[in-house]
Amino acid sequence: MSSFTDAPSNVLAEAQERIQQDLLTALDAFFLPEPLKGAVYHAVMLGGKRVRPALCYAVADIRPGVNAAAVRRAAVAVELIHCYSLAHDDLPCMDNDLLRRGQPTCHVAFGESTALLAGDILQSMAFEILGSRLFDQSTAVDASIVLKQVQILATATSKMVCGQVMDLQAEGQHVSQEVLENIHRNKTGALISAAIMMAAVAVFEGTDQAIPELRKFGQSIGLAFQVQDDILDIVAETEVLGKTAGKDQQADKSTYPALMGLEQAKAYAKELHDQAFASLVSFGDSARMLNSIAVFLLSRKS
Ligand code: IPE
Ligand code: IPE
Ligand code: MG
Ligand code: MG
Ligand code: MG
Repeated sequence: MSSFTDAPSNVLAEAQERIQQDLLTALDAFFLPEPLKGAVYHAVMLGGKRVRPALCYAVADIRPGVNAAAVRRAAVAVELIHCYSLAHDDLPCMDNDLLRRGQPTCHVAFGESTALLAGDILQSMAFEILGSRLFDQSTAVDASIVLKQVQILATATSKMVCGQVMDLQAEGQHVSQEVLENIHRNKTGALISAAIMMAAVAVFEGTDQAIPELRKFGQSIGLAFQVQDDILDIVAETEVLGKTAGKDQQADKSTYPALMGLEQAKAYAKELHDQAFASLVSFGDSARMLNSIAVFLLSRKS
């Protein structure tokens, strides 16, 4: 899709502004005791590219105005699950990281037990929001759409947890490409796909041809995202990355560059992005936002 090769550098800016506001509204709707409240706001509100919410909005942009409140709730819910996964991923018992989004990690700032519990409550908050009336001033969303969104997010969250277990078990191992792909599809790809599919079920009917095309897009871009993350761990600077560079090699993680070399990993990321672009062809210009996000992701620096 040559017409989409130039992603504006601010492709995520509008989504970031929208989600920041909605996340704040959502968090403020809960009563949380300190220090949990501080830890939750720390894990959610400080930075982050907000790629998953941006993907929700971009899918909805294919059919603007349809079930907007369900899309907004999905964007908040998937970002809360993502933030929970990061707070836990950084814990000493997992990747043991000190820096996240350019800030001390949640457990460094608030202690291990509070960071663990912040992750726990973010998970249940995400589902509570999905089934709530937040942002829904007028017409109620069809309950069957909410149920589908809950199922999509719950399945992806379970996959993320399974992927994290497999990731930890693969430390110091020399796994095959098949095994590594399975880890990456679970720990990262599933949640990225869920962002896309939760919006897809809100704006398209179940029988619509758009659904399988978007599923393919999500699978390609979701795997590509973690391949890029592995690459950035090697090529990016800590200051730009907002997390400590070189951690994967230090922990002897199973990554794509470790498996196939840096150049091959870059070529593979490009191949996966090409597959993603191909899945969007049938949408034409209506998928402009999705295309722009995919272009941005391939060249992202953090
Ligand atoms: C980092 O995700 C963790 C992975 C799943 C690879 P992001 O790169 O989306 O992190 P933020 O939200 O921008 O900090
Ligand atoms: C994280 O993968 C995946 C999840 C948080 C589910 P990484 O461990 O590679 O993510 P970073 O590099 O710490 O952000
Ligand atoms: Mg990890
Ligand atoms: Mg990590
Ligand atoms: Mg990483």
